[in-house]
Amino acid sequence: MLKNQQINKGLLSWKSVISIYLSITCCSALAQEKKTVAKPAEMVGALYAAFGNNHSRAVHAKGIILQGDFQPTAEAKKICMAFQYQKQTPVTIRFSDFTGIPNIADTTGLSNPRGFAMKFHGDGGITSDMIMHSFNGFPVGNTDDFVELLTDISKSGPDAPHPNLLEQFFGTHPIAKTFLTSQKPPTTSYATLSFFGVNSFKLTNAKGVSKYVRYQLIPVAGEHFLTPEELKMSGPDYLSAEIKDRINKGQIQFKLYAQLSAGDDKIRDPSIAWPDTRQRIMLGTLTIKKLSENTVQEDKSLKFNPNNLSPGVTIADQMLDDRARAYPISVKNRQ
Ligand code: HEM
Repeated sequence: MLKNQQINKGLLSWKSVISIYLSITCCSALAQEKKTVAKPAEMVGALYAAFGNNHSRAVHAKGIILQGDFQPTAEAKKICMAFQYQKQTPVTIRFSDFTGIPNIADTTGLSNPRGFAMKFHGDGGITSDMIMHSFNGFPVGNTDDFVELLTDISKSGPDAPHPNLLEQFFGTHPIAKTFLTSQKPPTTSYATLSFFGVNSFKLTNAKGVSKYVRYQLIPVAGEHFLTPEELKMSGPDYLSAEIKDRINKGQIQFKLYAQLSAGDDKIRDPSIAWPDTRQRIMLGTLTIKKLSENTVQEDKSLKFNPNNLSPGVTIADQMLDDRARAYPISVKNRQ
């Protein structure tokens, strides 16, 4: 009996050890999954603090709208049931410079990374959005750190004593420093730049099989950048002038890929790119066919949201959820 009690006691203590272990691992998993503290209005407020409230998009304010279509591959249909992967679909796209400064010079380093947003137009007026930028990564892994980074940028003007808040942030967030200091040189054209979705999505096919992916958009014309001499010769609006000229001469094409996650790839941390060796599935070809009207009214009414998705695509990343709540605040403020 005593022996049994001792054994039971022993078992109990092992149970406690296991439960303590589980609670620790569970808590650390929760810590990774921690809910964002910043409210959507604070996210947009931090963008205004960094770039000014210019009653335009809080970020990626300067841009140009074009029209085209998307032709999916047979492979796309196999991994995702979304409408845009079943048949050819009209699309509206918008290329942009970084920051919320509407008249930023295309030639300044601050205008990197460039933005790309695409709206697929399905039957019956349904739409689905895809938003990317030209860097395969993000300065921080979560939204609260992004708000802190933007706030530190806004408080680290030329008069701030060193180390200023931004320099201190770089000390604790080396990936942010890499992001802000290792952007590509200015591109020759929006049509010769690769774009990356950065955040993760779950694609589900008609059989209910799901995969975690990140989007990549690769220019058929290849990637080309300005030489320092060409940069000196380029005006502050050279990108919009170039794309107008290019589209007048012919169509512009990109290939859209889904990079598949494998192993211990970070699904919920956009600051860590997945290895280039990961399998990529070509989802289709984007053909840009003409310039859109680009009236003030069109620009105001064109709104993208990372959460405007078609059945078969779901967000897999807390930052996307946060972004989905922040974008409408900026949209409302810029009407
Ligand atoms: C927590 C992180 C982020 C926040 C809070 C945020 C917030 C915003 C806001 C408020 C806008 C303006 C929306 C509008 O007025 O229409 C915007 C636009 C945009 N964002 Fe983000 N963003 C975040 C992350 C990202 C990431 C990771 C990317 C790229 C992969 C990205 C790419 C863009 C682009 C391209 C636009 C312009 C869309 C257009 O052309 O209308 N953002 N963002």
